[in-house]
Amino acid sequence: MLKDKDILDEKNKLLHTKSKDVTFPMTEKDKKMIDDMIEHLTLSQIPEESEKYDLRPGMGLAAIQVGIPKRYFVVVYEYEEGKFENYVLINPKIVSASNEMIYVEEGEGCLSVNRPTEGIVLRHARITMEGYNTEGEKVRYRVREDLAIAFQHEYDHLEGILFTDKIDKKDPYKGKDQYRAI
Ligand code: NI
Repeated sequence: MLKDKDILDEKNKLLHTKSKDVTFPMTEKDKKMIDDMIEHLTLSQIPEESEKYDLRPGMGLAAIQVGIPKRYFVVVYEYEEGKFENYVLINPKIVSASNEMIYVEEGEGCLSVNRPTEGIVLRHARITMEGYNTEGEKVRYRVREDLAIAFQHEYDHLEGILFTDKIDKKDPYKGKDQYRAI
């Protein structure tokens, strides 16, 4: 089982490097890691479990955050109270993105950023991503709103970019008045 201490902190240089493509067939170790990441994110979003195991709630994790610089990420989305949908994207590509931009009003969070942050990140309101599942089959997801933000946040991890890198240093709330908050 993954614990918070297994997740790299932003100070770790690896988080600022680009991950490499996965080759298929995927290793058993990577498949197991995907299962562990899903388990961790699911438990972290169930209040009793997150308290029991002392897990910080999170909805997404990229492999590089657990020290594996390979291009895959997992998003566990609570679409209804206590009900979760898992998304696994391997070697993802952004195939289209809306012109409309949105941002998380209270600012984004990341399991690798363990400090309060100030500022917002503008993200596409809708996005289509293509990639592969663990069996190497093509998958395509069209997502919107908070799920679209999560996909873009995780995709950035594969590029070695943290959400804090995208906050304007001089004007952390730049764009706040022109774009929609969610
Ligand atoms: Ni993150």
